Amino acid sequence: MASNTYTWNDAATGTLPSPAESLAGRDLCSIADFSTAEIAATLKLAHDVKQSPQDYRWALDAKQMVMFFEKASLRTRLTFETAINTLGGSAIFVDQTQSPLGERESLADMSRNLERWVNVIVLRTYAHETITEMASYAACPVINALSDLEHPCQALADFLTVEQKFGTAKGLHFSYVGDGNNVCHSLMLTAAQLGAHMVVGSPKNYAPKADIIAQARAIANHTGGSIEIVSDPVAAVEGADAVYTDVCTSMGMEHEVTKRAPIFKPYQVNEQLMAHAASHAIFMHCLPAHRNAEVTDAVLDGPQSAVFEQAENRMHAQKALLLLLLGGSKQAASK
Ligand code: CP
Ligand code: NVA
Repeated sequence: MASNTYTWNDAATGTLPSPAESLAGRDLCSIADFSTAEIAATLKLAHDVKQSPQDYRWALDAKQMVMFFEKASLRTRLTFETAINTLGGSAIFVDQTQSPLGERESLADMSRNLERWVNVIVLRTYAHETITEMASYAACPVINALSDLEHPCQALADFLTVEQKFGTAKGLHFSYVGDGNNVCHSLMLTAAQLGAHMVVGSPKNYAPKADIIAQARAIANHTGGSIEIVSDPVAAVEGADAVYTDVCTSMGMEHEVTKRAPIFKPYQVNEQLMAHAASHAIFMHCLPAHRNAEVTDAVLDGPQSAVFEQAENRMHAQKALLLLLLGGSKQAASK
C-alpha cells in the first residue's frame, strides 16, 4: 500500500471530501476494505465521471497501470484499459493464464520491481491470497479484478447501475439466485454496506461462504440492511426490485459443469421466476452469461434486463476507483 499522495481538488469547494481522501494510495482486495462512506464516495464520483468524462480527460496523465490476469476476461480487461487510457494514463497487460503468479518469481520480489515502474497493479487470480499477498508487499495500490473469493469492481459497477435505476440502494430488495460465488460475495458485502436487503437463493451446498455471510450481516447491523439466505428460488425473488444471477460454474470449476447442471436447473432465471419479482424489477448479470442455462434468452434480452448498462458501468466505476486510489485531479478543460 502506498503512502497518501492524494491531490484531488473538488471543483465546487476546493476542499477534499474525507472519504475520498482516505482512499488515496489504498488497495481494493475485498469490497469490505472500503467503508460505507468510501463506497458512496466512489459511486458519487462514478456518476460524475459518467456524466462529464471530458472533465477528467487528463486526470491521470502519464500514470501507468499493469494488469496480470491468470483467467480470461473481456469486460474487466477492456474497461480497465479504456478507463486509464481516457484518463490520460496507460495500461500494460500481462497474460498470466499459462503460469500462476508467484511461480517464476516470488510475489514479494515481483512487487519490489513493479512498484518502481507503475502506479497501480491490477490482478485477476484464482487464489485470493495472491492478491492480498501482493498488496502487503507493493508500495502502490493493488486492485482485485476477480479472485475465487470476490469480484469487488463488479459490485461497484452493479450498485452504480442500481443507483441509476432506483436513486439509491438503501432499503432496496436485491435478490441473487444461483451459486454463492465470488460475485455473490462482493454483492452481499456491498448490499450490506449500502443498507440494502439482500436475499440469496442457492442450492444446498452452494450457499455463500459462512464467514462472508457473517461479515455481511455484521455490516448490515450498522447500516439498516439485511442478508437472508434461502434455498427456494421463488422465495428469494418474491417482490424483488432487482434479480441477479451468475454462471453456475465459475472459471476454474469447469470440471463440475455436468454435475452442477441438474442441481442449478430450478434456479434458472426465466420469465416464470421473474414474474415473482416486482413488476418494475430489473434483471442483472455480471456476464459472460451461459444463455439458457442460468438465464433464458427471453430474460437476458428482455425489457427488464440491465446487463449491458452494468457492463458499461464497469468502465465508469473503475475510472472513479483509479482516480481515488491514484489521486487524479479534475480538469475543467481537456488538454
Ligand atoms: N464480468 C466480468 O468480469 O467479465 P469478464 O470476465 O469478461 O472480465
Ligand atoms: N463467477 C464468475 C464471474 C465471471 C465474471 C467466475 O468467476 O467465473
